[in-house]
Amino acid sequence: MGSSAIRELLKVTEQTDIISFAGGFPAAEYFPVERFREASDYVLKNYSSRALQYGTTEGFQPLREYMVNKMAKLGVKRSVENVLITSGSQQSLDLVGRIFINKGDRIITERPTFIGSMQSWRAYQAEFITLPVDEEGMNTEALDETIKLKPKFMYILPNYQNPAGVTLSMDRRQTIVKLARQYGIPIVEDDPYWELRYEGEHLPSLLSLDEEMGRVRFSGESARDLDHGKVIYLGTFSKTLAPGLRLGWIMAPAELIRDCALAKQGMDLHTSMFVQMVAYQVVKDGFLEEHIAQVREVYRERRDIMLNAMSREFPSVVKWTRPQGGLFLWVTLPEMVNSLGILRKAIESKVAFVPGSAFYPDGGGDNEFRLNYSNAKPEQIEQGIKRLGKVLASELETAALNI
Ligand SMILES: Cc1ncc(COP(=O)(O)O)c(C=O)c1O
Repeated sequence: MGSSAIRELLKVTEQTDIISFAGGFPAAEYFPVERFREASDYVLKNYSSRALQYGTTEGFQPLREYMVNKMAKLGVKRSVENVLITSGSQQSLDLVGRIFINKGDRIITERPTFIGSMQSWRAYQAEFITLPVDEEGMNTEALDETIKLKPKFMYILPNYQNPAGVTLSMDRRQTIVKLARQYGIPIVEDDPYWELRYEGEHLPSLLSLDEEMGRVRFSGESARDLDHGKVIYLGTFSKTLAPGLRLGWIMAPAELIRDCALAKQGMDLHTSMFVQMVAYQVVKDGFLEEHIAQVREVYRERRDIMLNAMSREFPSVVKWTRPQGGLFLWVTLPEMVNSLGILRKAIESKVAFVPGSAFYPDGGGDNEFRLNYSNAKPEQIEQGIKRLGKVLASELETAALNI
């Protein structure tokens, strides 16, 4: 472990005069504060002895049932034994690492992938085998060969991937689930963003595809008991409601949920009952869907503003992804330029991003970087992209002169 150079550099983004496209923060001005206030009052008035008391590790039962019902709408038929409430997806990732990874174990991840997963799994001394990401998500051409290296699991971000903003195509989803089943390799499906889609059709989760394949294999009602596949699905309220709640969930086969619960007992006993009960009160009765419909519009607008500003302000050799949802897009510079060096200059110009190398488990990404568009307001996006465009133009010019 250890604090990285990038983390040190990005500490300055806490200064108020910097326009930061670095974090993965939702727009705080849209947090449903009033609804939280009412829900907190209600819980304290009616259920204080439960909310302020120790609770069960698996989580608040009505919230677990809420998750089961939500996933049922996506064609996933599970019960509460398949759900564990966690203190955010970051904890879910750590639980997965604690259960699966021994020193030197291999895991398959995308390249680039989510920083937080590397932070968790490096601590368990995993060996990362990576597959490249392109416009259709993780490239599966070499998956058949790679899976033969007997990884403990593969880690997939199907929707508007963090950091690259790309979405896994239907063909690739099917290939991944088919190979996982064939070789008996679990899939960790990390899916915080799926409800933040701004265009196009929702694609089925790996969890639901896996369930479908299981049903075909064991036809009839017994299918559900016989075959729950090996997908470990991670969800969170962080991006759709509020990350400060620290509230997420794992949906997985019951025996794995039992293992996760045991591991979680050693970490924090359980996720705050008060937070779980308040969040349940907030989300039930369709409020979450209404709220998401609102923030989806806000983020769609911010994405479009950023994309348009980039087209105007960035040198023409710079390329970027056009995400269909989520919070991030991914920028690729000509190979000779290093985005970490550009970050230093950008910070001097009061704008920040995360350099690409931070997202590569095994090196690379030096000429790439990630931009977030959910947190800055429209006028800040315009201003920040203008500043960044100037830095890029000047750095590219210097780089060309030095060749
Ligand atoms: C892909 C991915 N997984 C997990 C997390 C962690 O989320 P949480 O706030 O639920 O811990 C994030 C947050 O940025 C994320 O992007």
